[in-house]
Amino acid sequence: MANLAREAFDAIRSVSGSQPGHRAAHAKGRIYRGRFTATPAAGSLTRAAHMQGEPVEATVRVSNGGGRPDGDDRAKDGRGLATKFYLPDGSRTDIVAVTLPRFFVRTPEEFVPFTRARRSGLATALYLATHPRTAVVTSSAAKGLVRPPSYANCRYNGLHAFRWIAADGSERYVRYSWVPEAGEEQLSAEDASDRDRNFLQDEFAQRLEGGPVRFGLRLQIARDGDPVDDPTRPWPDERETVEAGTLEITAPDTERERGDDVLVFDPTRVTDGIELSGDRILKFRRAVYALSVEDRSGIVLADPDID
Ligand code: HEM
Repeated sequence: MANLAREAFDAIRSVSGSQPGHRAAHAKGRIYRGRFTATPAAGSLTRAAHMQGEPVEATVRVSNGGGRPDGDDRAKDGRGLATKFYLPDGSRTDIVAVTLPRFFVRTPEEFVPFTRARRSGLATALYLATHPRTAVVTSSAAKGLVRPPSYANCRYNGLHAFRWIAADGSERYVRYSWVPEAGEEQLSAEDASDRDRNFLQDEFAQRLEGGPVRFGLRLQIARDGDPVDDPTRPWPDERETVEAGTLEITAPDTERERGDDVLVFDPTRVTDGIELSGDRILKFRRAVYALSVEDRSGIVLADPDID
């Protein structure tokens, strides 16, 4: 696994080049403060501390998906919303979400050649021509490469399934989406061309001066037989959904990632009442994120105190 993680990390870097001090993916982004308040419905589905209704503090990073810290906000891209919740016992748990409706590949073994092929249009075309299922999945996933007028106008999806365990011991698999209170919107290429290459970063900070930006946490609940270990396979739209709470993003956080502070959002950082599914991509991410953290900060993430 460690070797495969290294290959994945190198493949990601081979697409965007070495960017010392920056995340290998989602390199361009900004950090904000916020708070999350769960609904009673969420508290009935999991005993997790941040889902019991008392507001909890959060750190949120909004980002573009690419590996270049100077990427152009006007280009289509997968946008990210990463949230860290601070629990009453001092621990933390993360939800990491993107605008893609499904992931491109199902296994770490597929991720490496798929990513290497993204170095050029020709290599990608050749790869997809010889991997027909990935070609179909990729064209659907690519609908999540968006050109929004604001990070506040995107819906962000967690893609992996997690097992929620209630106080009464009942269990179900759920998937997360952050649904924007401001509604989903996209710009035409022409409208985007009038904006500045950093407009998304600046717009979001300015928007917050007018008040908090809110996203609703929507759960989609699996039925028996739905795939819970495959991020390339969305569940049917008619599955039950539950509104689990509201994230309010309130202000820029200018204190994080200064000096020695390292911030990493890790979807495998769950808490009592929420467990990982058997999705191999989910577990693989932790190892690759650790390499990115080590590369950008020199810190070895095996240390459980790193946050
Ligand atoms: C094999 C699959 C994947 C690999 C190898 C991968 C790799 C990475 C890496 C290396 C980083 C930078 C980590 C850091 O330095 O902190 C990153 C960040 C990120 N990834 Fe992934 N990723 C994968 C799948 C996904 C999926 C499925 C999602 C969404 C559900 C996702 C969403 C994000 C987001 C939002 C960030 C930015 C987090 C932040 O703002 O700090 N990734 N990814």
